[in-house]
Amino acid sequence: MPLPCRGWTLALLTLLVGFLIFADISEIEEESGSSGGRGTIRSAVNSLHSKSNRAEVVINDSSSPAVVDRSNESIKHNIKPASSKWRHNQTLSLKIRKQILKFLDAEKDISVLKGTLKPGDIIHYVFDRDSTMNVSQNLYELLPRTSPLKGKQFPSCAIVGNSGVLLSSGCGPEIDAHSFVIRCNLAPVQEYSQDVGMKTDLVTMNPSVIQRAFEDLVNETWREKLLQRLHSLNGSILWIPAFMAKGGKERVEWVNELILKHHINVRTAYPSLRLLHAVRGYWLTNKVHIKRPTTGLLMYTLATRFCNQIYLYGFWPFPLDQNQNPVKYHYYDSLKYGYTSQASPHTMPLEFKALKTLHQQGALKLTVGQCDGAT
Ligand SMILES: *[C@@H]1O[C@H](CO)[C@@H](O)[C@H](O)[C@H]1NC(C)=O
Ligand SMILES: *[C@@H]1O[C@H](CO)[C@@H](O)[C@H](O)[C@H]1NC(C)=O
Ligand SMILES: *[C@@H]1O[C@H](CO)[C@@H](O)[C@H](O)[C@H]1NC(C)=O
Ligand SMILES: *[C@@H]1O[C@H](CO)[C@@H](O)[C@H](O)[C@H]1NC(C)=O
Ligand SMILES: *[C@@H]1O[C@H](CO)[C@@H](O)[C@H](O)[C@H]1NC(C)=O
Ligand SMILES: *[C@@H]1O[C@H](CO)[C@@H](O)[C@H](O)[C@H]1NC(C)=O
Repeated sequence: MPLPCRGWTLALLTLLVGFLIFADISEIEEESGSSGGRGTIRSAVNSLHSKSNRAEVVINDSSSPAVVDRSNESIKHNIKPASSKWRHNQTLSLKIRKQILKFLDAEKDISVLKGTLKPGDIIHYVFDRDSTMNVSQNLYELLPRTSPLKGKQFPSCAIVGNSGVLLSSGCGPEIDAHSFVIRCNLAPVQEYSQDVGMKTDLVTMNPSVIQRAFEDLVNETWREKLLQRLHSLNGSILWIPAFMAKGGKERVEWVNELILKHHINVRTAYPSLRLLHAVRGYWLTNKVHIKRPTTGLLMYTLATRFCNQIYLYGFWPFPLDQNQNPVKYHYYDSLKYGYTSQASPHTMPLEFKALKTLHQQGALKLTVGQCDGAT
C-alpha cells in the first residue's frame, strides 16, 4: 500500500474498513511474553462448528468451549510420527494459493518498497491508528527497491516456529535440506543446530525482540551480541514489522542504524500496512477466528505464494508434548506463557487446529516430534 499523498485516501479507507472488521486486533507484537491484558474477547470457537462449504480448511470441532483448562490438550492433538505416511496434495496447495491471492500477494505485501515512501512521510500504525511515525532517512535507505520475493518459486520451504518441542528432535539436517528456510524472531540457531538447523533465508524480528533478547542494547555487550546475530544472517531477508504497533520505533531505528553503520549483509523488508488484516481476513473466511495471527501463521500464509511444499517445525502451542512430557515455550529461553489465556493476543491452539487439518489434508506437513533419521 503506497502511503502518503496519492495513496492516502485509499490507505485511510483500508484502515477504516480494517478497523470496522477487526476491531479487536491491536498489535503483532508479543507473540511471547506479555500476557498483557489486551482484549478479553473470546475466540469464536463456536463458529467452527459450522462446516464451511467454500473452505479448504474444514474443521469439525464439536467439543471445545471458548475457555477451558487445556493443560492436557496435547493428548487430543496427536500427529503421527514423521515416518508415517503423509502425502502432499498439490491440487489443494494450488487451490489454497489461489484463494489467498484474493486477499494478499506475498510478493507485494512482504515489504513496502522504496518507490512508495520518502523520508519524512508520516505513517499511521496499523494497530494504533492514532499514533504516527515519520519515515526516517535510514528506514528509507533500507526499503527494498523490488520485492525480495519477486518471481521466486521454491520446491520446498521450512517454516521454523520457536517451540521447545524442537529440542531433541534431531530435525536440523532435515530443515536445512529445504530450499527456503523461514525463521521467527531472530531465534538463535548456532547452539541448537542439531535440532533446528542453521540455514536461514528469511527471519522475522518483532521490535520487541530487541528488548526481550537484547536488553534494549543497554551497553556495548548487548550491542555486540545483536551485531553478531545480524552478521550471521549473511545475506538473508530480515523481516521487520515496523508499522504495526507504536512503541517499537526506537528499536527499529537502532537496528536500522546498526545495519547501515556496519554494512551488515541482510536484505531488509518491512511488511505492508495491509498484510495483517488481509491474512486475518483470509482465515476468517475459512472459519478460523484468530484474534491476531502469530508470526508463524503469517509466514505460512505468505509462503503459500512461493513455496510448492511447506513443512512446519516447532509449531506446538501446548505445555506438554505428545508423550505428556513438559515442553518449553521457546526452545532457547525460559519464557512461560499461557497458551490459551483470554488475555493473550493470540489464539494459538485454534491456529494449530487449522494447521493440523491442513496437514491431514496434505496441504502442508507438520512435524511435532522427532524427525526421521534422528536418534
Ligand atoms: C463432527 O464430528 C462428530 C464426531 O466426531 C460427528 O458426529 C459429526 O457428524 C461431525 N460434524 C460434521 C459437521 O462433520
Ligand atoms: C484433562 O483434564 C481434565 C480436567 O482438567 C480431565 O477431566 C480430563 O479427563 C483430562 N483428559 C485427559 C485425556 O487426560
Ligand atoms: C486433493 O485436494 C483436492 C482439492 O481439495 C481434492 O479434490 C482431492 O480429493 C485431494 N486428493 C487427495 C488424494 O486427497
Ligand atoms: C515528522 O517530521 C516533521 C518534519 O520533519 C516534524 O515536524 C514532526 O514533528 C515529525 N513527527 C514525528 C512524529 O516525529
Ligand atoms: C552490560 O550489561 C549486562 C547486564 O545486562 C552486564 O552483565 C554486562 O557486564 C554489561 N557489560 C558492560 C560492558 O558494561
Ligand atoms: C554466506 O553466504 C554465502 C553466499 O550465499 C555463502 O557462500 C557463505 O558460505 C555464507 N557464509 C556463512 C558463514 O554462512
